[in-house]
Amino acid sequence: MVDTETFRSAMGKMVNSIAAIATMQDAIPFGIIATAVASLSDSPPSLLVCVNKSSSIYRPLTTTKKFSVNFLSTAQQDIVTQFGEKAGAARFHPDKWGSSRGGQPVLKGAVVSFDCELSAEFDGHTHAIFSSLIKRITTAEDPEAECLLWTNRQFARHHLL
Ligand SMILES: Cc1cc2nc3c(=O)[nH]c(=O)nc-3n(C[C@H](O)[C@H](O)[C@H](O)COP(=O)(O)O)c2cc1C
Repeated sequence: MVDTETFRSAMGKMVNSIAAIATMQDAIPFGIIATAVASLSDSPPSLLVCVNKSSSIYRPLTTTKKFSVNFLSTAQQDIVTQFGEKAGAARFHPDKWGSSRGGQPVLKGAVVSFDCELSAEFDGHTHAIFSSLIKRITTAEDPEAECLLWTNRQFARHHLL
């Protein structure tokens, strides 16, 4: 069996886009930062997200069954800091978040935001694996906006080869 630190260090070699996953329950926003987001299918358009069952968003998300997945731009490192330093609704600065037509929190200026509906939950040990249908996609007005990346436990940006 591989120990946790060896696993974490190996996964640190990977490069992932950073997303903020958010949901609104009874007018209270809940959110986490996540890198465990993947495309599932284009028919129908769907995503997989992996959410720690002990995180504050887990129960609200399984209750509302609606959430947004907002991919941060390189100009949005402060969102990660804000989510790390604050808890609950204090993670959501009103100037930085709007609302989707479905009533979910949407991060202004995100490279892309997916408005999602939970379709199934699978067990992933400490995590829940959610498959979700994409109801709406919003892309940044700035065509130059680039995803903020996470590798070796630090922020990065991509460059093309
Ligand atoms: C770069 C980064 C990536 C993360 N990726 C995930 C993830 O994919 N899934 C997840 O459940 N938590 C992830 N986390 C941890 C959550 O953002 C959060 O801190 C944790 O679930 C505790 O949430 P709570 O304070 O709302 O309870 C990540 C944190 C960081 C900083």
